[in-house]
Amino acid sequence: MSVSDLVLELSDTIPDFPKPGIVFRDLTPVFANADAFTAIIDDLAARFAGKYDAVAGLEARGFLLAAALAYAGHVPLVAIRKEGKLPGEVLSETYDLEYGTATFEIHPGQIVSGSRVLIVDDVLATGGSAVAATRLVERAGYVVGGIGVVLELDGLGGRDRLGDYELYSIVTEA
Ligand code: ADE
Repeated sequence: MSVSDLVLELSDTIPDFPKPGIVFRDLTPVFANADAFTAIIDDLAARFAGKYDAVAGLEARGFLLAAALAYAGHVPLVAIRKEGKLPGEVLSETYDLEYGTATFEIHPGQIVSGSRVLIVDDVLATGGSAVAATRLVERAGYVVGGIGVVLELDGLGGRDRLGDYELYSIVTEA
């Protein structure tokens, strides 16, 4: 089965989670399947081969992907964390998400200035968190190498909000 078929077959859809009106797409059953998880990491790594020197994951579900990609590519791992979790000097960006607002933070100065950073997350919805991540990466002095997600929810404007950044989704659905 192709990686996109595995994602479609194994993922769950939960209505009214975490709030009424949100149709939540849960990828944890996909990650719980070793063949599917390995295929996802291999696909993202291949798609962005030669285009990144580091990987940044968005807390929390993006960490699962970013850690595996950083290991697979033997490249630095950058954590983009929710507000208040990183000690010391941080850069912050507040953004709207499909179900509220949130703030992400990054530690500047941990990897080589000018590094091309691949930003990864499980789901792209409105793009708010991904746009915040691109800002943090750039404000920290790095370059956005690309944005990779497992599932893109079309129709919420995420792709448009990301403008000219290279965005790859394993699956896009309406
Ligand atoms: N993140 C933002 N919107 C989401 C959704 N509908 N399902 C899963 N993750 C999301």
